[in-house]
Amino acid sequence: MAIERTFSILKPDVTRRNLTGAVNAMIEAAGLCIIAQRRILMTRRQAETFYAVHKERPFFGELVESMTAGPVVVQVLEGADAIKKYRDLLGATDPAKAAAGTIRKEHALSVGENSAHGSDAPETAAIEIAQFFSGNDIIA
Ligand code: CMP
Repeated sequence: MAIERTFSILKPDVTRRNLTGAVNAMIEAAGLCIIAQRRILMTRRQAETFYAVHKERPFFGELVESMTAGPVVVQVLEGADAIKKYRDLLGATDPAKAAAGTIRKEHALSVGENSAHGSDAPETAAIEIAQFFSGNDIIA
């Protein structure tokens, strides 16, 4: 299996409830290595750009509001098959449908406050990582 990098955001519902370490422990237990991490306040413009693919969706305004409502932790994760591995660890977008043992089943509050984001493909991972990290920020 190829060693890949994926982009992760621990969302404001995680930082608000002081669950950053709990989620990071799940990430590391799954065999993913956190090779870059920063806690930031995402600007409205950053959130709109990051989620531009969803801009016609009815929930876009709510999504931007929720991602700018408090601190987030942006991360780069590395490991074998990291993109799929992290999506599997996240569980379904709607926590009500997420499998036991997943981050969203254990911690998420709702589809809007679903605790974490993970890239869905290698191309999007590269684009998303580049929005928040440059080369020397990432220490593999
Ligand atoms: P994420 O993996 O960050 O990608 C897009 C986000 O949009 C998703 O997680 C959810 O938080 C959010 N989202 C998707 N569908 C809905 C919905 N029906 N209502 C509100 N938010 C949604």
